[in-house]
Amino acid sequence: MVNVAILGFGTVGSGVAELLTQNGSLIERRVDGLVRLKYILDVRDFPDSPYRDCFVKEFSVIERDPEVDIVVETIGGATVALEYTSRALRAGKSVVSSNKELVATHGCQLLKLAREHGCSYLFEASVGGGIPILRPLTSCLAANELSQVTGILNGTTNYILTRMIRAGLTFEQALKEAQDKGYAEKDPTADVDGHDACRKICILAALAFGRQGYPGQVPTQGIRGVTLEDVAYADSAGYKIKLLGRALRQPEGKVCAFVAPHLVPGEDPLAGVEDVFNAIAVTGNAIGDVMFYGRGAGKMPTASAVVADVMDIARDLKRDRRNDWEEGDPGLVVSDDGLSSPWYVRASGSMEQARQAVGELHPLARSGAPGGEVAFLTPVMTRPALLDRLKGMQVRSLFRVLA
Ligand code: HSE
Repeated sequence: MVNVAILGFGTVGSGVAELLTQNGSLIERRVDGLVRLKYILDVRDFPDSPYRDCFVKEFSVIERDPEVDIVVETIGGATVALEYTSRALRAGKSVVSSNKELVATHGCQLLKLAREHGCSYLFEASVGGGIPILRPLTSCLAANELSQVTGILNGTTNYILTRMIRAGLTFEQALKEAQDKGYAEKDPTADVDGHDACRKICILAALAFGRQGYPGQVPTQGIRGVTLEDVAYADSAGYKIKLLGRALRQPEGKVCAFVAPHLVPGEDPLAGVEDVFNAIAVTGNAIGDVMFYGRGAGKMPTASAVVADVMDIARDLKRDRRNDWEEGDPGLVVSDDGLSSPWYVRASGSMEQARQAVGELHPLARSGAPGGEVAFLTPVMTRPALLDRLKGMQVRSLFRVLA
């Protein structure tokens, strides 16, 4: 029998408890042993919960109990969660987490701690919610040299952009709708400003390329600057605006990683990823392109990934899972300034002025455009080169085109 303790009885933690119970016999059969929920740590009281006998308020109860083999950390953040995860690993207990902030900022150190204490630190649910992506990256695609990872990594922003594109809602209206539906937090900063996607691309890049880049090193732009005008211009040429997290292998072991809104061609599978769905496209030298798609958030999809990690550990508590990476250095992550692509530009000025500035361009049109507004797609160039050429124009929007 394997005993599990859940830290934090919020959306994901309660989903994990439910799934362990609901699919208990299936889990027991597949693990070849009972996986028992022994403790739930939460500061709140849940007198009516079916799990009321499991609740404890002191982490030390879990830490000191030699029967606890696996700790599920669904607290979130990188303060208390860091302390409890470190203490659990030091006590030789494996930890399963859905906490992308903690993995992105302290993953390397926690993986090292797990190795030193003969246990595991797994976090499939931290990227893409229920989508299997981290284990496929390190197991099923292990024979490949990976060159790129590109993802729609945040369900809330994908929902907002979908509603702007499909229903013509403004960013503010779509955000309010996302909040009413419970997708977006009251303080939506982490989602709409791209920080959540940034943490996820850091984790993907670390697993794909073997070294840890940190969120503070990754240029991050969210979707607050995307307007209905941009959506209409993009649509006129068959593009959808999507927030992408991207990581590209660079020479000398460096990684180009960034998060930004992109114009995605309609025929690219990423363009068809709508609402709260996530998708991650990976390129490897043997597989070519492969895409993972599904529910990137939500109680039960995320619990599905957490419980699968619990089951993996429960089958063999001491196996070295080799899912780690090395520490990066301050120069590991290079900005996307060196990355050439076509660009979408919306600016004040004339098309003649734009042509003189960037040369051959693809003009865009939308109904109701005021005089003096131009929008166009540029030839392939770097951002610094483009900005230099656009010096005489007032740029309103500037997004990279996924090519
Ligand atoms: N806030 C995140 C999202 C939840 O909207 O995708 C899952 O990480």
